[in-house]
Amino acid sequence: MAVIKRVWAREILDSRSTPTVEAAVMLDNGVVSVFSVPSGASTGTHEALELRDHDETRYRGKGVLKAVNNINQIIGPNLIMANLDPTHQEEIDNKMKQMDGTDNKSRLGANSILAVSGAVCKAAAIAQGKTLYQWIYENATQKGLKPMMHAPTPLFNMINGGLHGAGNLDFQEFFVIPASSKNFADGLRLGSEIYMMIGQNLARRGAIHSVGDEGGYAPNLFTNADALEILVEAIRQTNYQIGRDVFLGLDVAANSFYEDGAYKIRDKSAPMNEASLIAYYKELNNLYHMAVLEDPLHEDAWDGWNQLTTEMGQQITIVGDDLIVTSMKRLEKAIQTKACNAILIKPNQIGTISETIDVIKHSREANWKIIVSHRSGETNDTFIADFAVGVGADYVKFGAPARGERVSKYNRLSSIEIELAYKSQQQTPPQPPPQN
Ligand code: PGA
Ligand code: ZN
Repeated sequence: MAVIKRVWAREILDSRSTPTVEAAVMLDNGVVSVFSVPSGASTGTHEALELRDHDETRYRGKGVLKAVNNINQIIGPNLIMANLDPTHQEEIDNKMKQMDGTDNKSRLGANSILAVSGAVCKAAAIAQGKTLYQWIYENATQKGLKPMMHAPTPLFNMINGGLHGAGNLDFQEFFVIPASSKNFADGLRLGSEIYMMIGQNLARRGAIHSVGDEGGYAPNLFTNADALEILVEAIRQTNYQIGRDVFLGLDVAANSFYEDGAYKIRDKSAPMNEASLIAYYKELNNLYHMAVLEDPLHEDAWDGWNQLTTEMGQQITIVGDDLIVTSMKRLEKAIQTKACNAILIKPNQIGTISETIDVIKHSREANWKIIVSHRSGETNDTFIADFAVGVGADYVKFGAPARGERVSKYNRLSSIEIELAYKSQQQTPPQPPPQN
């Protein structure tokens, strides 16, 4: 097998015009792969460290030259010296963890480590003549996960609030979710048709219909519940039926409106305590029958999470994102305390591909649902789509079905779905699209 011969990195821009890290790996057989790292805005406090320069004279302190240099001067030379086979993903990831030596990757930066981890994964797939999702599937299988390969059901983020929207909504993401029984192509069409309808309705009312960070509309509305009403109205104008073809959901991202021990949202005149916020979710659920509820409480409200999941977890997929931050330690606590029944998976919250797969495997052992997610600051890299298929995720969350950096991932899933259909009939698919 080939060995890693060159590793290098540079600073590029993400979808918010913020610098991020792009790494490339070259093998001694000439194979080259490129991978770029996304970046969150509503980050959990317990995420691995995203290394930024904090040099206010460049990109308002957001430059990533330190992370780039860590790849070019530390990670790269060390990996090259060791003559490593890129198919040994875990060995390479462990080596980088050792080089870093901290719990939260704060010396080298999770952004520099993940950039190389992802580029190595791609290089190994190309060198073996395998699709990226197939290679990730093999990695996952080696680790004892038994993925069911399919294009997962998308959670379309149609309305952006919180830290992602320029409007006035407190809740961060308002989902439209096609029924899991639909194939991906039909689900994508449903998402697009409803997205267009929402935009048309907002325009007709003279409401703001420009979009937020993840491509969903970012209107000013009276309450957060009004945004759910807008989704219902748009769906009713289509041929799709709520509760049969399509469902609703929320990523509340409660950290962002939690202050001084209380939750402040525009739906209520006074700040709410945990009990009254949970009661409000029940009220909303009676009206809108939510299928998915992410980060309903702040990231360290363990008792409240348990109460909410005990009371609502039978009907609703309760997702831990800021709560768990793709960390094995926090996942173990969440399983023990029955804090939720699903996990949001973001490789850059933990910093290597191998650790991300370990966390997925452990979540599956607890019978949890797996949702593989982009970040609000994205590039056009489609790695995460292949990753979601390879690990057998139930859902993906790649934003609205709009804006290039979001649709590149949804479009990649469309082509994987076609490829898998051909392969299941043992036919050769039409010419596959390039992976990089
Ligand atoms: P982020 O948001 O990428 O800004 O953290 C995504 C999410 O909260 O799910
Ligand atoms: Zn979230």
